[in-house]
Amino acid sequence: MKIIQARDYGDMSRKAANVIAAQVIMKPDCVLGLATGSSPVGTYRQLIEWYEKGDVDFGDVTTVNLDEYRGISAENEQSYAWFMHHNLFDYVNINPERTHLPNGMNPDAGQECARYEELICQVGGVDLQLLGLGHNGHIGFNEPGDVFEKGTHCVDLQESTIEANKRFFASADEVPRQAYTMGIRTIMMARKILVIVSGEDKADIVQKAFFGPVVPRVPASILQMHPDVTVVADAAALSKCGSQK
Ligand code: F6R
Repeated sequence: MKIIQARDYGDMSRKAANVIAAQVIMKPDCVLGLATGSSPVGTYRQLIEWYEKGDVDFGDVTTVNLDEYRGISAENEQSYAWFMHHNLFDYVNINPERTHLPNGMNPDAGQECARYEELICQVGGVDLQLLGLGHNGHIGFNEPGDVFEKGTHCVDLQESTIEANKRFFASADEVPRQAYTMGIRTIMMARKILVIVSGEDKADIVQKAFFGPVVPRVPASILQMHPDVTVVADAAALSKCGSQK
């Protein structure tokens, strides 16, 4: 695991965008695994800027997102599909037919999860998976538990996650209670993983996830076992790692 310290959110975003841009330049038809949330917004903004300057070309790129709320449509402003369109896809030359997210409107969870796993296989697997880190150590919507969940599955969101995500909704009551997410195995099969973390509120979990024991109570800790993980974290997020980093 490689840990790169950034000064702040802006610096983290540029460094992460550099890693993604390098991936796209090295393999123009690569498969990018993407995330939503606050962490990647700056990274996507930077990529859009470089696309506008002609430095990155998304024409042959395929994307698969980590997760989507269950029960809300892609047109809903709170959906992750909407987020991706408004934070990246609509501003670069990516082919919309090659952008994929779980379909939150498929009521058949078993069928949707199997479809998404199969799709990831069909596109050739993920070359570079971008991840944010939840305060409880979740990656995607893989919440702390007794086991590492394997493939794409439907999850009941934990109260802490609903609480953290309610900022995007009118109230906590409106936050969906379930989501479809890539599983830990799906994530671990990515050839490269890039984790971005910013802010002092993540300092405890950064220390536990990347320097603590590998346990399903801290889902992100499994990343320590992956052969090619880069963490780009700002100084505040790394502030509890001391000399470990
Ligand atoms: C988003 C996702 C989540 C977030 C995590 C961190 O697609 O799967 O695991 O990456 O909750 O969220 P932020 O970046 O908002 O702190």
